[in-house]
Amino acid sequence: MELKANTLEPHWMPFTANRDFKADPRLIVKAEGIHLWNHKGERLIDASSGLFCCAAGHGRTEIAEAVHQQLLELDFSAPFQLSHPWVFELSQRVAQLTPDDLNHIFFGNSGSEAIDTALKIAMAYHRARDEGHRTRFVSRERAYHGVNIGGTSLSGLMKNREVFGQVMPGIVHMRHTWLEENKFKKGQPDTGAALAEDLQRICDLYGGSTISACFVEPIAGSTGILVPPVGYLERLREICDAHGILLVFDEVICGFGRTGKAFGAQSFGVTPDMMTMAKAITNGVQPMGAVAVKDEIYETVVNAAPDAMIEFFHGYTYSGHPAACAAGLATLDIYEKENLFDKAAALSEPFLEHVFALQDLDVVTDVRGYGLIAGFDVKPSTIAGGRGIDVQKKLYNAGVHIKFTGDSGIIAPPFIATEKDVEEICGIVRDVLGKEK
Ligand SMILES: Cc1ncc(COP(=O)(O)O)c(C=O)c1O
Repeated sequence: MELKANTLEPHWMPFTANRDFKADPRLIVKAEGIHLWNHKGERLIDASSGLFCCAAGHGRTEIAEAVHQQLLELDFSAPFQLSHPWVFELSQRVAQLTPDDLNHIFFGNSGSEAIDTALKIAMAYHRARDEGHRTRFVSRERAYHGVNIGGTSLSGLMKNREVFGQVMPGIVHMRHTWLEENKFKKGQPDTGAALAEDLQRICDLYGGSTISACFVEPIAGSTGILVPPVGYLERLREICDAHGILLVFDEVICGFGRTGKAFGAQSFGVTPDMMTMAKAITNGVQPMGAVAVKDEIYETVVNAAPDAMIEFFHGYTYSGHPAACAAGLATLDIYEKENLFDKAAALSEPFLEHVFALQDLDVVTDVRGYGLIAGFDVKPSTIAGGRGIDVQKKLYNAGVHIKFTGDSGIIAPPFIATEKDVEEICGIVRDVLGKEK
């Protein structure tokens, strides 16, 4: 393959150690199934489904062809006061997967935009009910809700906040749910539900009637996989109900089968008022994010405006872009035809067995996991996150791509992976980690 760029300098890479990367780049030039190929022609297993997006595996011609056809037919139409049929079709298909009455879908282009959209929907909803005094939002330590100002404000990861000043005011954080006693606990920990009482304490401190919404990832993903303790999400639901607070699940990673059901909400049996989603909605092939909202929220906001007037002053030029909708529709077809959510559920037990077997390695200090996603922590070196970056590169050189946040690696294979594949992934991880001191 001919690479035309003769310098790597102009591209400022996101969430990357730029100087280090550019000294020894890792360029991916081809992908198919669960595999990636780099610019040196070496093959790697994509053990994190890209960035938790490519659930149906890479190189799905059905999706590529649907996008191609769509672009030939209709490449773009303005999404404000005009629309196209495929965005309605995709909304209906997504609403068939969401729980209960979360039947209205607002589209953007990323998880971060979905989070900003959900924040603004909560504001608009309360205002339409004359409860505009609900100005506070609750989030959680170790949360990741993307990188826009809304998501940065909700973030519970210090490195994602410390440089960016005050961001949005009025955000309060609950404690995270990692507990020493739950180390190496597969699935939902039995203890820790009491941490949901942090929300009640926040209500006791500020007044529940001042709080607009509580945002949580059903499984906190990017921080390294924190599975909710048994009873924790249920208790958050109860407290939200008691105080009129909207419960928002950020399903950007959990959504579309990662937990073995369509959404984490269904796996954990708790229905939120809104759900944010992105990534696997298009199998990562086109940028797309979305918010699913309860009928009552949609109706409240929409019915509050005068006739024929715009109800919600929010939207993106590329909200529901035709190519992204085509990718979404083709992706949902694949999930359905190939029963991929059930396949993810069936692979979960052997997958978790293999990942949890890594706990005998000296350098591994914790393993957590649920469904087809698992995190492992490695002992920090002299600088927090230093070993994580180093180990990620060693894994790459050994033939496997695993996403790291700090010193936590996150394994989340495509749903088309087999038990043999997960065994191979964990075998490589074992070889690499076994050499760490
Ligand atoms: C839970 C969660 N929310 C939001 C986001 C942000 O999504 P995006 O990177 O598409 O903006 C992510 C990305 O990993 C995520 O994991």
